[in-house]
Amino acid sequence: MTERIEDIARAMVAPGKGILAADESTGTIKKRFDSIKTESTADSRRDYREMLFRANDAMKNHISGVILYDETLRQKAKDGTPLAEVIKTSGSIAGIKVDTGAKPLVGPTSKIETVTEGLDGLRERLAEYHKLGARFAKWRAVIAIADKCPSHNSVHANAHALARYAALCQEAGIVPIVEPEVLMDGEHSKHDIDQCADVTEWVLKETFQELYYANVKLEGIVLKPNMIIAGQKCAKQASAQEVAEKTVKVLKACVPGAVPGIAFLSGGQSDEAATEHLSLINQIGNLPWAVTFSYGRALQAAALKAWGGKSENVAAGQRAFSHRAKMNGMAALGKWQKTLEKAA
Ligand code: 13P
Repeated sequence: MTERIEDIARAMVAPGKGILAADESTGTIKKRFDSIKTESTADSRRDYREMLFRANDAMKNHISGVILYDETLRQKAKDGTPLAEVIKTSGSIAGIKVDTGAKPLVGPTSKIETVTEGLDGLRERLAEYHKLGARFAKWRAVIAIADKCPSHNSVHANAHALARYAALCQEAGIVPIVEPEVLMDGEHSKHDIDQCADVTEWVLKETFQELYYANVKLEGIVLKPNMIIAGQKCAKQASAQEVAEKTVKVLKACVPGAVPGIAFLSGGQSDEAATEHLSLINQIGNLPWAVTFSYGRALQAAALKAWGGKSENVAAGQRAFSHRAKMNGMAALGKWQKTLEKAA
């Protein structure tokens, strides 16, 4: 395959395909494994992820790329094949999470706001990740909506860090997934859909301004935003159609047409809501970019449950994953319908 970042970015958002976010840190995957009463060890994490990456139907037909955590990029499958190789053989691209997490941002809102760290030594880490087979990367900035939040400092510091990260990725021949996430869940999620729209617009405009200052080539990035949606604790939830329309409106106002693709995070939406919203967004049509998924929870929750940490359930886990991957692949084409869920 070509090594041009523009081509890699386009392949990441190929029609009917999207990205599997399997880059949970060791702490986060432990929480997921706790929910199925499975011990989180290097081997159990490997077994779980190998199950996903060997789900042939999903990987070949619906998953363009997989975001990995550092440990996974270095791990080998049970038969000794590097997991990155398993992904590549299925026709998908290996990617790597390179931020080192969201840390409290000094200031009056430090109990709520964070800035994402990981720039120190990033050039060297990217060179190593490229050698290990990664061709794209992810950095997640987190923006919370609450009283007096987001602050200008939080929006600006996070956008600036995203741009510095993106420039370093492109220098290394790696496509940056630029992920400024306005949270829909958590303690402070009482905002309504219009507050989400206002804050997301601010965050995206600031992010693209910083990408410009940092000389980032927009043709060689993939944007990973939140949808425009009410906070989980908001009493007034919008309809799926309203989510789709407001998401398209904000993205059109903020995202230049030079960007090849937008791949949403699921952010705490139910599996089916994340799929339905994506499909309705694509049904609106006339979008200048490919619009697809880069889901973590919404692609994995059913598979994790079906697997339950037991080797005899691998086929069931793969079936559950393949089903969600297929449903989201249809949604990326604007062709998902509720009746398809029942056909599983
Ligand atoms: P969710 O889809 O579970 O929000 O995760 C996507 C992701 O990669 C967040 O950084």
